[in-house]
Amino acid sequence: GLVDGQGKYLFPGLVDVHVHLREPGFEDKEDIASGSRAAVRGGFTSIMAMANTSPVVDHRALAEFVLRQGQRAGKARVYTAAAVTKGLRGEELVEMMDLKEGGVSAFSDDGKGIQSAEMMRLALEYAKLTGLPVVAHCEDESLAAGGAIRKSETSARLGFKGIPAGSESVMVVRDVILAGETGGKLHIAHVSTKESVEAIRTGKARGLDITAEVNPYHLIFTCEDVTLTDTSYKVNPPLPSKEDQEALWQGILDGTIDMLATDHAPHTREEKARPFGEAPFGINGLETALAAVWQAFVAKGILSVEKLIELWSLNPARRFGWEAGTLKPGHPADMVLFDPERREVIDPAGMESRSVNTPYLGREMRGLPEMTWVAGKLVMKDRRVI
Ligand code: DOR
Ligand code: ZN
Ligand code: ZN
Repeated sequence: GLVDGQGKYLFPGLVDVHVHLREPGFEDKEDIASGSRAAVRGGFTSIMAMANTSPVVDHRALAEFVLRQGQRAGKARVYTAAAVTKGLRGEELVEMMDLKEGGVSAFSDDGKGIQSAEMMRLALEYAKLTGLPVVAHCEDESLAAGGAIRKSETSARLGFKGIPAGSESVMVVRDVILAGETGGKLHIAHVSTKESVEAIRTGKARGLDITAEVNPYHLIFTCEDVTLTDTSYKVNPPLPSKEDQEALWQGILDGTIDMLATDHAPHTREEKARPFGEAPFGINGLETALAAVWQAFVAKGILSVEKLIELWSLNPARRFGWEAGTLKPGHPADMVLFDPERREVIDPAGMESRSVNTPYLGREMRGLPEMTWVAGKLVMKDRRVI
């Protein structure tokens, strides 16, 4: 039937390249079906699962399983990254060509930044032969170890060992250099520091094949917003300083940063109920991230609708080769009808995700997707997944 779009926007489906769907191994946090339902409820029609499951997605049969589960769920298009090494801290590279034939879209170290420069170099060299990007979660573990939030006045005041910004930036610098030496495709996940932005800017100016994403929560919150009573503010990389946040904005405005990505990281209530220092890192993003960015930036005129779509649909689809569903003329489209005036109090009972670790719980959000179509099929209507 006809849809009344008066006062609303029809967006191309949003594309989120960084989600943790937790299947196999951590289904108490999320599974592929619940994560893909959360995606379409939040306006995302394509998502890429990270490989830090148990077992790790480091061989073809498991990658094919993840993709099949995504298809069975029949909601968002589910893509997957494979791990770079066999096992998350592995010392042997995966069979990249075989995994590519199995349908993976990238190779990711997510969850454990590759500590060995030699391994990263090999990963870039071999991934280059497949044409797929290496997704780097840049973190020097020797610098980050034992930290819970960004090293700052706040970490000192709260009595936490801070995570220095350099634990990320030194690895970004390293990986940009290695991308230059190998000519491999590099995608830097959740950039959160000024020095990281500068290194990526320099690499791009040299013509290297680098892209980068920012987690929207790093634009909305700073380390000063962290309260020990709400562990949903505990995320990795940690919430940035004001100065780093400014640099992320500069990076978005001048094209150094290519895309937003939620890093949807569901964790159970029990895990997040632990004391701040012991709770796991991660924010549940798929059902609240678009509304969060809308109300914080687009509604205030800080970010244009066109730029939002570039950052969260066009650029990510292009980088990982998924244009088909969203943009090709003559193909059934992935679309979202978005109502900038719609309000909703974020209520765990209404969430599709199995986990509710978001700072927005119980808060009212304004600006929400109302209908979502994937490949021309209506999968969410009036805030309910069909
Ligand atoms: O906060 C995070 N949680 N950051 C990551 O990079 C990994 C993720 C997870 O797997 O929970
Ligand atoms: Zn990560
Ligand atoms: Zn992640």
